[in-house]
Amino acid sequence: MINTEDMLQDIENVIISEEELAQIVKDLGARISSDYKDKDLLLVSVLKGSVLFMADLMREIKIPCNIDFMAVSSYGSGTKTSGVVKIIKDLDCSIEGKDLLIVEDILDSGRTLSYIREILLARNPKSIKICTLFDKPERREADIYAEYIGSRVPNEFIVGYGLDYNEYYRNLPYIGALKRSVYSEE
Ligand code: IMP
Ligand code: MG
Repeated sequence: MINTEDMLQDIENVIISEEELAQIVKDLGARISSDYKDKDLLLVSVLKGSVLFMADLMREIKIPCNIDFMAVSSYGSGTKTSGVVKIIKDLDCSIEGKDLLIVEDILDSGRTLSYIREILLARNPKSIKICTLFDKPERREADIYAEYIGSRVPNEFIVGYGLDYNEYYRNLPYIGALKRSVYSEE
C-alpha cells in the first residue's frame, strides 16, 4: 500500500494536464463521430487502463454506439510486458457484423493489442480498428499500429488518468511521469 504523500511525490512532472487531456479526447471523439457515421459502432474498452478514457471518449462521440469491455493480463505488476497475454474477462456480446473500435490506454510493445486484435478478428466483425490514447512508437515489437492516436509520449513510464504502476495512481486526473526511483528496483 502507498500513502497519499508518496502518491504525489512519486510523480516527476506532469506530462499532460487535465485540460490537455480533455482537448485530445474531444478531437478523437469528433474524428470518430465523423468516420463512423452510418456504421454499427461498437467500442471495446480494454480494462482497466482505458476506463477513464472510455468514459470521456464515449461522451465526445455524437453518433449511436454500443460499448463492451474485455480484460487481459499482460504486465503482471511491473513495467515490462511478459509476452504472455491471457483473457481474464471476455466480451458479453457478439461482434459479428459490427464495426469494432478497440479503445486502449497505451500502445507500448504492441503485444497486448496484437493478441486481442487476432482473437477478435476471428469472430468476424465487419471492421476492426484501434483507438489508443497514447503511443510509444519506439518501443514497438509487434507489427501493429493504431488508426486513432491521442498523443505520442516519450519513452518514460507514465501514470494517471487510468494508467497504473502496481495498480496505483490510476485516479490521478492528469498524466505524470513516474520517478525512476519508484520502479528502478525491478
Ligand atoms: P504492450 O503489450 O507492451 O503494448 O503493453 C500495453 C499495456 O501495458 C498497456 O495497456 C498498459 O496497461 C501497460 N503500459 C505500457 N506502458 C505503460 C506506461 O507508461 N504506464 C502505464 N502502463 C503502461
Ligand atoms: Mg497496466
